[in-house]
Amino acid sequence: MTNYPKTCALMARGREFLGTDYAILCGAMSWVSERNLVAAISNGGGFGVIACGAMTPELLDAEIGATRALTDKPFGVNLITMHPALFDLIGVCEKHGVGHVVLAGGIPPKGSVEAIKAFGAKVIVFAPTLALAKKLLRSGADALVIEGSEAGGHIGPVSTSVLAQEFLPELAAEFVVFVAGGIGTGDMIAAYLEMGASGVQLGTRFACAKESIAHPDFKKAFFRAKARDAETSVQVDPRLPVIPVRALKNKGTEAFTAKQREVAIMLDEGKVDMGEAQLEIEHFWAGALRRAVIDGDIEGGSLMAGQSVSLVKEEEPVAEIITKLMEQSEAALGRR
Ligand SMILES: Cc1cc2nc3c(=O)[nH]c(=O)nc-3n(C[C@H](O)[C@H](O)[C@H](O)COP(=O)(O)O)c2cc1C
Repeated sequence: MTNYPKTCALMARGREFLGTDYAILCGAMSWVSERNLVAAISNGGGFGVIACGAMTPELLDAEIGATRALTDKPFGVNLITMHPALFDLIGVCEKHGVGHVVLAGGIPPKGSVEAIKAFGAKVIVFAPTLALAKKLLRSGADALVIEGSEAGGHIGPVSTSVLAQEFLPELAAEFVVFVAGGIGTGDMIAAYLEMGASGVQLGTRFACAKESIAHPDFKKAFFRAKARDAETSVQVDPRLPVIPVRALKNKGTEAFTAKQREVAIMLDEGKVDMGEAQLEIEHFWAGALRRAVIDGDIEGGSLMAGQSVSLVKEEEPVAEIITKLMEQSEAALGRR
């Protein structure tokens, strides 16, 4: 018996797919989604996902092992598709019998989906367009996350509400689709479930949970922030591409804009060539998320956060956040 019959019924396919009580994923967050947060999410009835990020295969090996020691519930591993050792990392997941691998950061390279499925794991992918989503799902991916521009971290240009209206009517009957970006309460979860989603993925709402190892100053910055403080990175010059990232504005985001202007002028004056200029921009944020999350450098580091940061007010245990989300969703569905 569940306390949330309406929500759990709508989540049935997602729960079965993940092997969890609730179809709520905590999206991988580099430096934040490590053993402690991941295990707490899975122990709380949700689905935790380890953020592999730039980890070496050895580090991922240790992280999966340490997470297993903290939970016997299912959890997943998020791999970035352009990681140079992607296939070795898949091998590490195989060694540990990881049940779900999330491929993020671009179109999965040839053979990667097959390599994951070969050891029996399920593959979860992202897709920015409906056509690509259909192609990936028809060619072997087991589930899809659609993530709107309200989300924290690297984002696409379209909002979650529009993606949900575009993708869910076309895909939800046949495939498992999770909705992410801007979800901070159970009311929103109920709405996407009613539209056909099998479940949801949240990041920002969990980043400052009690079990999160994020630095206390990083957490305080979240508690203080309003939705409008979580801004998208600005590109100053069309010759110098900037991958859009949503993060809390701080001295670092201002310095990034100034840096782009400075590099553009150097390019105009012929002091650097295009390759050097683009590298300067690309390298600006290197290590910046780690500096914010681990060292607590909230001025110079990258405070990646989604717009739902306005709904994060205090440090709460993961289990309480999940309970609150489920209660809110159930109440919302009960009012229908
Ligand atoms: C601090 C932070 C770091 C993130 N790092 C990653 C990452 O390494 N890989 C990834 O696929 N998504 C990453 N994300 C996105 C989350 O997995 C998740 O999809 C997103 O936070 C959901 O939207 P929300 O922030 O509105 O809840 C990150 C998000 C945040 C806030």
